[in-house]
Amino acid sequence: MMRRFGHVAHCLTALLIVGCGDSTPPADLTPDGPASFIGSAACQSCHEPEYAQWLGSHHELAMQEATAATVLGDFSDVTLDYYGETTRFSTRDDGRCLGRESRIQDRLCVRY
Ligand code: HEC
Repeated sequence: MMRRFGHVAHCLTALLIVGCGDSTPPADLTPDGPASFIGSAACQSCHEPEYAQWLGSHHELAMQEATAATVLGDFSDVTLDYYGETTRFSTRDDGRCLGRESRIQDRLCVRY
C-alpha cells in the first residue's frame, strides 16, 4: 500500500513540474510603451541593503548631472599648461568641457 502511494505521489510531482513548464509569457509583462527612466528610488523597497550601500558611493556620484553644485573642479574658463600644451576647462550649455587649445575642435563636454 505504501509503495503504491509513493508511486502516485511521484506521478503527481512529475505532473506539477510539467504543468509549470508553460513558456508563454503572461500578458501583464507586455510593455505599455517605450521604456523610460524610473529613478533609483524605485529600487529601494525591494533592495534596501544594496540601496543603502549605493547611496553616496562613487557609483551614485558618477552619474549626477554635472552642475556647479556637483562638480569639484574649476571649469570657469581656466587653463592648465602641461608639457607645452594648454588645456582649457570651461562650461557650455551642454556641460563641463575640457580641450587642448591647439585642438579646441576636439573639446570634450560631459553632462554627468
Ligand atoms: C518589486 C520588487 C523589486 C524591485 C522594485 C526591484 N527589484 Fe531587483 N530584484 C527583485 C528580485 C525578487 C530579484 C531576484 C533576487 C534573487 O534572485 O535572489 C531581483 C534581482 C535584481 C538584480 C540581480 C541581482 C543578482 O544577484 O543577480 C539586480 C541587479 C536588480 N534586481 C536590480 C534592480 C534595480 C536596479 C531596480 C530598480 C530599477 C530593482 N532591482 C527593483 C525585486 C525587485
